[in-house]
Amino acid sequence: MSPMPGVPVIAIDGPSASGKGTVASRVAAELGFHLLDSGALYRLTAVAALRAGVGFDDENALAPVAAGLDVRFAGGETWLAGENVSEAMRSELASVGASKVAVHGAVRAALLERQRAFREAPGLVADGRDMGSVVFPDAALKVFLTASVDIRAERRYKQLIEKGLSANLESLSQDLRERDERDRSRAHAPLVQLPDAILLDTSSMSADAAVRFVLDAWAQRKSK
Ligand code: DC
Repeated sequence: MSPMPGVPVIAIDGPSASGKGTVASRVAAELGFHLLDSGALYRLTAVAALRAGVGFDDENALAPVAAGLDVRFAGGETWLAGENVSEAMRSELASVGASKVAVHGAVRAALLERQRAFREAPGLVADGRDMGSVVFPDAALKVFLTASVDIRAERRYKQLIEKGLSANLESLSQDLRERDERDRSRAHAPLVQLPDAILLDTSSMSADAAVRFVLDAWAQRKSK
C-alpha cells in the first residue's frame, strides 16, 4: 500500500508520446494537485547510467544507480548530481534508454518509494505506465490515455521541429513501435489497460478536450 492512502491520486497511464505528460500537468495545475512524471525517473536512471558507464542491460549495476539518483526539480528544470539535464533526459537516446532500464525488476523496485513519496495533500496526478497497476493501485481515478502510433509520431515530430531539432518521421514511428513493444511485453509492470481504467483515445482530440475529459471524470468520481 501507498504511505498516504487518504490522499487522492489520479493515475494516467499510456504509451510513449500519447500526450499524458501534457494532460497530467494541466490537470494537476487545474486541481492544485502535485504532479509525478514517473517517466522522468526512468529517463534520469538512463542518463545517470550513461554518465557512469553502466550498460542498460546490467540490472545489478543499474539498481544502485536508480536508488542513488541525486535529483532536483526546480522551476521546470531538472538537475542530476548538480548538472542541468533537462534537455539530455528528453533526447531519443534517453528515451530508448529509459525504456530499456525500465524492464529490470530491481530498477523498478529501487524507484518505487521515491514515486510514492510524491503522494501529498491535497492530491497527486501521476503519469506513467504502472501508476494504476503497481505504484498507486488504490488511485481514485485511473485513465488509460492513448493515441494511434502515427498520430503520436507526428506529434513528437512537430515538437522536435518546433525546438529547432532535426527529426525523421519514419524513424520516430519505428522507435515508438519498438518502445511500445518493450513496455507492453516486459515481465515486470508491463503497460496494460486495467479493467478499472477509463479509456481516453486522443487520436482526434485536442489537448484542451483531453484535459476537460479527465477533469469531468474526476468531478463525477468525487460526486459519487
Ligand atoms: O513516459 P516516458 O516516455 O517519459 O517514459 C520513458 C520510459 O520509461 C518508457 O518507455 C518506459 C519507462 N516507464 C516505465 O516503465 N514506467 C513508468 N511508470 C514510466 C515510464
